[in-house]
Amino acid sequence: MPLKLIRQDITKLECDAIVNAANSTLLGGGGVDGAIHRAAGPALLEECRTLHGCNTGQAKITGGYKLPCKYVIHTVGPVWQGGGHSEEKLLRSCYRSSLLLARENGCESVAFPLISSGVYGYPKDKALKVAVDEITAFLLENEMLVYIVIYDKSAFRISEKLFNDIATFIDDKYVDEHFRFDFRNRATGESTVLSDTAMLSLDDDELIGKTEILPSFSEAPRAVGSAPSASLDDALKQIDESFSEMLLRKIDEKGMTDAECYKKANIDRKLFSKIRSDLHYKPKKTTALAFAIALELSLDETKDMLMKAGYALSHSNKFDIIIEYFISNKNYNVFEINEALFAFDQALLGV
Ligand code: APR
Repeated sequence: MPLKLIRQDITKLECDAIVNAANSTLLGGGGVDGAIHRAAGPALLEECRTLHGCNTGQAKITGGYKLPCKYVIHTVGPVWQGGGHSEEKLLRSCYRSSLLLARENGCESVAFPLISSGVYGYPKDKALKVAVDEITAFLLENEMLVYIVIYDKSAFRISEKLFNDIATFIDDKYVDEHFRFDFRNRATGESTVLSDTAMLSLDDDELIGKTEILPSFSEAPRAVGSAPSASLDDALKQIDESFSEMLLRKIDEKGMTDAECYKKANIDRKLFSKIRSDLHYKPKKTTALAFAIALELSLDETKDMLMKAGYALSHSNKFDIIIEYFISNKNYNVFEINEALFAFDQALLGV
């Protein structure tokens, strides 16, 4: 997965380069700058002295010294002054300059902190959006594994509204792993769905006499290949096509190129080539779902594609419910979905 959101101390990351949110002197400071200099040792400062500073929005590269990475790319973010002083333009330039420097030095993996979102006061959600935008634009044209490192959860927040919408959606759909009971209240005639724990909390006179347990209905099984346009012949053909065959068929039907599809799915080229060459390849569930999202499949088509990889969407799995939330809302932006999955401590889409 070319872009990963991770919660980690950047000084511990074993990748080709880590990016430092420095100041224009490049002579160290607090925050991530201080942490990187402490972990790298005094030799880093010695080399920084030879660079004679760095302008805001630009980047310079040094060795990693005692850090578990080969290089440190020092970039200077803008100080937030309300948004009217080219802060966004300068912050975008930090990401672009750092990525180009990483590519010029043959880096295959690079990790960014959220530049300017600490001492420099850039609002964290805006800083994250700039980071994701610039990195994904770069990854459309380049092969590299890029990490956005979130140091503390508080530094990471999707919009309150989106978070609450998803939390409500999960509550509505989420049933405990054990049982679900459909109760009809004889007095009022209304039926409710209760988990076994909720059922056990009812006291006796509520449970006995006034309620009856209804057969808990499960979703009506869907005919495979139930896409309305599928003729009987197509539907029969689609029944025994493999995951890879369905994926390649859908890429054609959507008029996409292979590269457009796997980049939009945030899947690296090597994995896609493996899937394309082995028609019986069994992907991980997060990979299968990443392609379903990239192809902007409907919920039924997504379930068909998952089934061909041996999986199903389940309402006892928050990850699945969050995916269902985005598909039901026709929001197919893998990075927005990953930000939401990250906020709910779930695995991310991709390999
Ligand atoms: N690993 C990963 N991320 C970290 C770490 C760490 N060890 N320490 C801090 N961060 C995160 C912060 O949580 C914040 O989200 O890095 C982000 C950037 O915060 P700062 O380090 O304060 O950098 P910035 O806001 O760009 O301000 C730069 O601060 O440290 C000084 O010398 C630096 O003057 C410069 C200014």
